[in-house]
Amino acid sequence: MAKMVSLTIDGRPVSVSEGTLIVNAAKTIGIDVPVFCYHPKMEPVGMCRQCLVEVGRPAIDRATGQPVIENGQPKINFGPKLETACTTPVSEGMVVLSQSDKARASQKEILEFLLTSHPLDCPVCDKGGECPLQNLTMEHASPQSRFLFDEKHHAEKRVPLGDKIWLDRERCIQCARCIRFQEQVAGEPVLAFYQRGRSTDIITSSEPPFDSIFSGNTTDICPVGALTTADFRFGARPWEMKAAASICSLCPVGCNVTFNTRREAKSRARTGTTTAGGKVVIKRAMPRQNEQVNEIWICDRGRFEWHYVEREDRLEKPLVKKNGKLEKVSWKVAIEEIGNKVKGNKEEVVVLASGRLSNEDLFNLKQLADGLGGEALLYDSLPGGELTTKYGVSAGTNIGDMGAGTTILVAASDLYHEAPIWHLRVKQAAERGATLIIVNSEATRLDKYAKHLVRCEKGEAAKKVRELGAAVKDAKNLVIFFGADGSSALAEACAELVKSRAGKPNNGLVGVWPRANDQGALELGFKPAQDLQAVFEKASVVYIVGADPIGDGAIKTQNVKRKPFIIVQELFLTETAKLADVLLPAQAFTERDGSYTSGERRVQRFYPAVPALGETKADYAITALIAAELGIEVEGRSAGLVMDKLAAAVPAFADITYGKLAETTEQWPIIGRADLYYGGTSYQNSQGLGVPLGRENKKAEEGSL
Ligand code: SF4
Ligand code: SF4
Ligand code: FES
Repeated sequence: MAKMVSLTIDGRPVSVSEGTLIVNAAKTIGIDVPVFCYHPKMEPVGMCRQCLVEVGRPAIDRATGQPVIENGQPKINFGPKLETACTTPVSEGMVVLSQSDKARASQKEILEFLLTSHPLDCPVCDKGGECPLQNLTMEHASPQSRFLFDEKHHAEKRVPLGDKIWLDRERCIQCARCIRFQEQVAGEPVLAFYQRGRSTDIITSSEPPFDSIFSGNTTDICPVGALTTADFRFGARPWEMKAAASICSLCPVGCNVTFNTRREAKSRARTGTTTAGGKVVIKRAMPRQNEQVNEIWICDRGRFEWHYVEREDRLEKPLVKKNGKLEKVSWKVAIEEIGNKVKGNKEEVVVLASGRLSNEDLFNLKQLADGLGGEALLYDSLPGGELTTKYGVSAGTNIGDMGAGTTILVAASDLYHEAPIWHLRVKQAAERGATLIIVNSEATRLDKYAKHLVRCEKGEAAKKVRELGAAVKDAKNLVIFFGADGSSALAEACAELVKSRAGKPNNGLVGVWPRANDQGALELGFKPAQDLQAVFEKASVVYIVGADPIGDGAIKTQNVKRKPFIIVQELFLTETAKLADVLLPAQAFTERDGSYTSGERRVQRFYPAVPALGETKADYAITALIAAELGIEVEGRSAGLVMDKLAAAVPAFADITYGKLAETTEQWPIIGRADLYYGGTSYQNSQGLGVPLGRENKKAEEGSL
C-alpha cells in the first residue's frame, strides 16, 4: 500500500498517497486550483503557470533531522517564489495556500497575460458557457487590461484541422493539451506546435489531416474554443441543452455517453440529416465518465455517427403487404395479421434478431420463440462466440488496472477499427507493462505495442493461438480478445487457453462483436445463426428484428425456394423490410430505455433522450403485443419490468435491477461539476456505472468446450 502523506491546503488537513500532486490533493477536498495545461489523465508539463500557489515546508533541524518546533507548532518555511501546483508533489507537513493574496495576484496576472492575445469573441464562440478561460476570467481576472487591443495576434478565423475538427488559432492559449492527448493517450502524435511566441500555431502532421479516431476528445479537453467539432459548431449554447445518459450502440465496448438535446425552432433548423421544425433533437454526443469502461473518452464514431436515428426515412407506422404493396395500417390490424398467420404454424417460427437490440428486447423475443416452440437465432455474430458465456471476463475485471503480470492476447481483430476504446485501453495496459501478444493476418495500429507479433494467413489464427500455451501459462492474468477468422476454431483455441481461469477477475475471453449487444443475446440463449438460406426455406414464419440479412447479402432471395411469412421490425425500409408481409416500426435506442451487455459482460442502462417518432414502439413492447395475440404472457409495460423478469429467469443476470444499474460511486479523476478547466467537458456519471454479469459456475466447471 502506498505511503500516506499529510498536509494542509488553505488551512484544511488532507492525507493522500505519496507522490500525489498538490492540484490533485486539493481536488480531493473540493479545493479547485485553477489550471489550464494540467489534465489529470496526462503527464504534467507546467507550461501555463495558472496554478501557482504558495508552498511552505517544515523547517528541519540539521542536527537532529527533526522538524523545528516554534510555539508548539512545526516551523514552516515558505519559499520566496510561488510553485506550480500541477507539478509539485505533496510532502509531509506541507502547507499550501492557493488563495492567499500572493497566489491570487499571480493567478490574476497569468490570466491577464493570456488575455492579451485572446480575441474575446465569447458571444459567438462555441465554448461560451462551458469555457474554462471564460469561467476563470470571471472568477479571478482583473476587469481591465494593461495591454493594448491592437497588439493582439490576428489569424485566419478558422481552419480545418481535419474533416471533423476546426481550429480557431486566435483562441488557442498554447496549453498543448490537444498535442499531449494525441501523443500520450491516443498514441497518435498527429498534432504539433509550429512557429514560436504569439505566432505559435497548432498544426497536423498526418496525411489525411488529424488522422485519429479519437480526435473529438481534443475538443472536450481544449480549455478554450480553439478546437470545435464541425458537427456541433454553432449548433447550440450549452445552457440551452438538456442531458440524457446513454450507451453508445456502435460497438461492443459500451462507452457511456451523454446526449445533449434541444427543442429546435419551428423554421429552418437543421440537425445533421433532418429538418427539425420544432422537435426536440440531439445536438451532440459527449463522453460520460466510467473508469471501468471508457474512462472519460469516446471515439469519433460514437461522437458523430448517431445521426442515423434522425434520418427522414424512418418508419413511423405499421405496414401490411396487400396485393404486393406495403400499406399503412393500425397496430391492431398489423398484430391481428401476424396472429392469424402464426397461429397455425407455431413450431415453424424462427426469430432472427441482431445484437443491435437491448437485453429486454432480446429476452422478450426469446420468451416468444420458446412459448411457440420455435427457434431464436442471433444474426451475424462471431463463430464460436457463445463460448464467452462460459469463459467471458467477469466481475472485478478492468483493463484500466492491467499492467505488469497481465498478458493480453488479441487474435484476428483490429481493435482500432472494431472497438476503438478497447484499442486505447489495451495500448495503455501494454505501456504499464502488460505483455501484449497479437495474432493477425494483417497489420494493425496496435502492433507497435506488442511484445510478440504473430503473423498468420487469413483463417489460420486458431493454429497460431494453439501454439501460445507455453507463452501465456505463467501469466498472472490472461485476457483474450478474439475476432472473426472464418470458423469457430479460433474461439475454441482461445477458450482452451483461458478456461481454467474462468471466474477470476481480469481473466477470460472477450468477443470483439460486430454489434453492441451480441454478448447479451448469447447470455439470453440465442444461438448464432448458421445457414440462413436453409432457415428461410424451412421456416413457415420468420420474425426478423434489427437485422437486414438481404441487404447484407447473407440471403440471396433468388435462391430461396419457399418464401416464409416474413415479419420485420425495423427503423428503416431496408432491403429485408421490403420483403416483409408485416413491417413494424421500432423506436431508436435514443427514444426509449433499455440496457446492453458489453463485450466485457457489463450490463449498462440507457435512457430516452428524445421523444419517440410517430407511432413507433420499443422492440420489447412490440414483441409483447404479438405474444399477447398468440396467448403467451410476455411483459411489455416497461423496460424495467422486463428486466425484473429477465433477472429472475437467467442466472447470470440474477439480482440485476434498474435501480442497481443506476448506482454510482465516486470516480477518479473527479470531473464535470463546476470546474471544467480540470477535466474538460466530459460528463460526470450520475446515472449508473452498470453491473458486471455473474457467472454460471456450473457450466464453467464442466470444463468441456
Ligand atoms: S488548441 Fe486548445 S488544447 Fe490545443 S494548445 Fe490550443 S488551447 Fe490548448
Ligand atoms: S469505442 Fe465503440 S462504444 Fe465507444 S464510442 Fe466508439 S463506437 Fe461507441
Ligand atoms: S502550469 Fe500548472 S496548470 Fe499549467
